[in-house]
Formats: sequence, structure tokens, C-alpha cells
Amino acid sequence: MKKIPRALAAALCVLLLAATLSGCAGGEKRIIRIGHNQATDHPTNLALLAFEAYIEEELGDRYDVEVYPSELLGSQTDMVQLTQTGAIDFCVASNSILETFSKDYTLFNLPYLFVSSEAYHQAMDDPEITGPIFESTKQAGFQAVTWIDAGTRNFYTVDTPIESPADLRGLKIRVQQSPTNVTMMSLLGGSATPMGFGEVYTALQSKVIDGAENNELALTSNGHGDVCKFYSYDMHQMIPDILIGNCGFLEGLSPEERAVFEEGFRLVNAVERREWGKAVEAARDRAVNQQGVTFLYPEVQPFQDICTPMHQDLLEKYPDLAPIYEGIQDWNAACAE
Ligand code: GCU
Repeated sequence: MKKIPRALAAALCVLLLAATLSGCAGGEKRIIRIGHNQATDHPTNLALLAFEAYIEEELGDRYDVEVYPSELLGSQTDMVQLTQTGAIDFCVASNSILETFSKDYTLFNLPYLFVSSEAYHQAMDDPEITGPIFESTKQAGFQAVTWIDAGTRNFYTVDTPIESPADLRGLKIRVQQSPTNVTMMSLLGGSATPMGFGEVYTALQSKVIDGAENNELALTSNGHGDVCKFYSYDMHQMIPDILIGNCGFLEGLSPEERAVFEEGFRLVNAVERREWGKAVEAARDRAVNQQGVTFLYPEVQPFQDICTPMHQDLLEKYPDLAPIYEGIQDWNAACAE
């Protein structure tokens, strides 16, 4: 993924701020800007293009949706701040990043929180679980409008097969910029190296880091599999991406418009989930057959045993998150039956 220099991104944002209306034959339209950090063929981008088509079909006389992929508007942290201030209207941020804006998001970053993809999907679809968390940043100027599947995160390295936590010892592993991820990595014995997503490819290539952790699409869509030859399914996290919107923009919509946008948000979730399964299969195929990546299936329990105390630590630190945590456990139990 090509990273836009910060100065250029800042200049672009000034230009964006200067122009929020586009002219057209029938009058002016409000431009809606959505930023994200994935490539154009990624399920997230496909879902946002479906959102753009839907909103413009329903409300095209008033709104012109523009989707900016590939960190064109800066890193996820930059984009969250732009959404917060209303310089842009929406962006997709990893739940990890949001932990630094509201401690409530820390919950979904816990390793081994969900027992299966099914439990993860059920819990994330349950408004009693996501509702309080999605609204927890309202005072900060933004709120979540839907979640986006980002699969399961696993370790991958340039040249060290990770068969057990001991293999991580001494390795510099890139993690997302979140305290939970740094703690997890330290517990597992690796040296946590937090950095933005767009910097990872170069860091791997120049051997600043020995590996990273992410879903399979990072190997192909972001090219990490060109450098990293071992991908280990330790299944440590299912961290959703979150589509967030500026509160001022959302509250300024009429009830009729808001209903259309809500439908659009549901569409983002549905299209991305439909595309996700296909994309992971294609990524695995390409990683093995074109990039020469070896997939490994270590015993998960030793990784899980090391990380599980993080659950209790979080609940002791933030007891108000206990009811939501219990709700997730109910889904875990229901899906295990
Ligand atoms: C995934 C996730 C992104 C995130 C990235 C990362 O690709 O979908 O939202 O930025 O991981 O590791 O930073």
C-alpha cells in the first residue's frame, strides 16, 4: 500500500475543508467524504462503493458520496480525528485504534474474546452489546454506525515459523497502536512494535520488524506475503473494523434521510461480509501459489492460556464493562451448543 506523505495528506484535508458543496445542474449537493486504509479491491472498499451507489440512488439530488481508499486521507488515527472535527463525514477505523478514544472499545480488542466466528458475528450483530460501545464517543464528536468483519488475526513472520509462544521470543512484531495489543504481545514474549498499517510493508522489507499479525488479506492486498513466508493460525483476536460518522452530520439529517442512511449502513455490513469469505479464500490461494507462503496450524491453547488473564484484568479495571462482557459470554455459550 502506498502511503501519502503527511504534508500532502494535510494539504489535501485543507482542500477538502474548503469544498463541501459540489455544483450541479439542479443546484448544489453536499459532498460526503468517507476515508479508509484498504486497497480498492478490498471488501471494505467494495462495501463503501455499494453505500455510495445506494445513497446517490436514493438521495442523489442532495448528496454526492466520495470514497477515499488507501490512506489517501492519512492514517486511521488521522482519519478518526478528521471525522471527529467534521473535516470528513465518515471513516473506517480498526476497533484497536478506537480504544484510545474510548476505553469501552477495549473490550473487543481482548485476545480470545469470541469462541468462534459465529459467536463473534452474533455478538457484533446484537445491539445490546454494541449499542453502548458505539455511542460511547458521542461527546468526542463521532459515533459508530456499523461494524465491518476483519476476520481473525494471526502471526506471520519473514522467516520464523511460529509453532508455539516460545517461537515469538525476541522477535519484533508489529502491532496496532493500542495498549491492549502491546500488552498481549509482551505477554506472549515478543517485542511489541506499534506502528500504523501503511508503514508495515517497508518495516518488514527493511527488517526493522521480524513479523506482524493480521488477517490473510494483509498478505495479498497489502503485499506482506511477498516478504513474510510463514503465517500461523494461533487465532488470537477477532477485531472488527468500525464505520464511524461525525455526530454533527448525522444529527443534521432529516428523519427521512436518516432512515436512508441507516439502510446504507446495513448495506455496508452485509456487502462486506458477503465479500469477506470470498476474499479470504482468494488470498489464501494467492499466498500459497504465488507468494510461497506456508500456512501453519499450531496448537492454540498455549497462546490462549497466556492471554486469558487479560480478561479479568480488564474487568477489574473497568467494572462497568462487565454486563457487556457477560453478554458476549452468553453468545459464546449459545454458539458452543
Ligand atoms: C486490518 C484492519 C484494518 C487495520 C489493519 C491494521 O487490515 O482491517 O482496519 O488498520 O488490520 O493492522 O492496522
